[in-house]
Amino acid sequence: MKLLVTGGCGFIGSNFIRHVLATHADDRVVNLDKLTYAGNPANLADLANDSRYTFVQGDVCDAKVVRDVIRGVDAVVNFAAESHVDRSLMEPDAFLRTDVFGVFALLEAVKELKIARFLHISTDEVYGSVERGSSRESDPVRPSNPYSASKAGGDLLALAYWHTHRVPVLITRSSNNFGPHQYPEKVIPLFVTNALDDQPLPLYGDGRNVRDWLYVLDNCAGIDLVLRKGGEGEVYNIGGGHEVENIVLTRQILQLTGKPETLIQPVKDRLGHDRRYSVDSHKVRQLGWTPRHRFGDALGTTVAWYREHEAWWRPLKSGEFRAYYEKQYGHR
Ligand code: NAD
Ligand code: DAU
Repeated sequence: MKLLVTGGCGFIGSNFIRHVLATHADDRVVNLDKLTYAGNPANLADLANDSRYTFVQGDVCDAKVVRDVIRGVDAVVNFAAESHVDRSLMEPDAFLRTDVFGVFALLEAVKELKIARFLHISTDEVYGSVERGSSRESDPVRPSNPYSASKAGGDLLALAYWHTHRVPVLITRSSNNFGPHQYPEKVIPLFVTNALDDQPLPLYGDGRNVRDWLYVLDNCAGIDLVLRKGGEGEVYNIGGGHEVENIVLTRQILQLTGKPETLIQPVKDRLGHDRRYSVDSHKVRQLGWTPRHRFGDALGTTVAWYREHEAWWRPLKSGEFRAYYEKQYGHR
């Protein structure tokens, strides 16, 4: 297959491109990425001499750019998004643009050029907070922050294009990913890198919010399976099956980094902080997917990766990040 991957210089997208080229020797990948603060070409530096891989810098909201890169591909996998909830609380504009209008621009091009498959990458956050049980794909979306509302907008538009125009749309909604190359604003890489530097770990609220952790390579395998075997017009949840309170996760990170619990700094809660996410993954399991990595081992591998790749994350935690960090945590 020739794939167009959008947002391939980000965390999951870069892991996915590497996964595809490692497991499908004949595939080719074009990566369209705007290179926002979260897009980092260094994430794919190892593919620089791989003739199957092409990088194009551009915006998914730009209809002309999108049409140019989409022509001739067999499938599109859309990772491009603004992805951080806290930033969506401060500056939501870019979320609406990329996570809704960007999906629209891609759908229009897929429709016009009759592309055979469009896999849109979404999130379990579209279901909103789930106090009990687990969300199924048929549940209504009830997003509760500007990020998840924008993602839900993208999902609904994609499903509407399937319903009205039979654009061959598929959607995955995964739980919280972690692993190598995750930008250090998200809780695991933030807490790991802060701990390595003996800096406080700002834990929101009572620390008892629950997230379901999924190792990024397991998500990539699930996405790849849905891309090749999933049904058109269908949504697939992909959950890690490892639900844990933030305080428990934080203690595990401190143990793995060999740092004391005195580094934990309870801070004012995130506005509208969803208490828990949980998805039912039966449907993707029926396609043959199962998570291969045990949480404890994968967290250990991730901590070791950050320990060994200071040259990757240190530059990211200076510059723009310092200003963001001050704005986000300075007053808390
Ligand atoms: P990320 O922030 O690490 O990467 C996003 C990438 O998209 C970056 O490379 C960025 O440059 C690019 N991008 C942003 N705006 C763009 C635009 N207008 N045009 C082209 N490229 C643009 O995000 P991630 O964590 O890798 O998430 C990827 C996708 O997976 C997102 O759609 C996100 O909603 C979804 N998701 C993430 C998680 C998670 O835990 N990280 C879980 C579920 C779903
Ligand atoms: O559930 C899937 C979603 O997971 C994805 O769609 C998003 O793109 C991704 O960012 C992630 O969203 P969360 O808001 O769950 O992830 P984050 O890492 O920001 O926070 C995880 C939990 O940790 C959450 O309950 C808030 C808490 N937290 C986070 C940060 C950054 C803290 O306590 N302190 C922090 O400094």
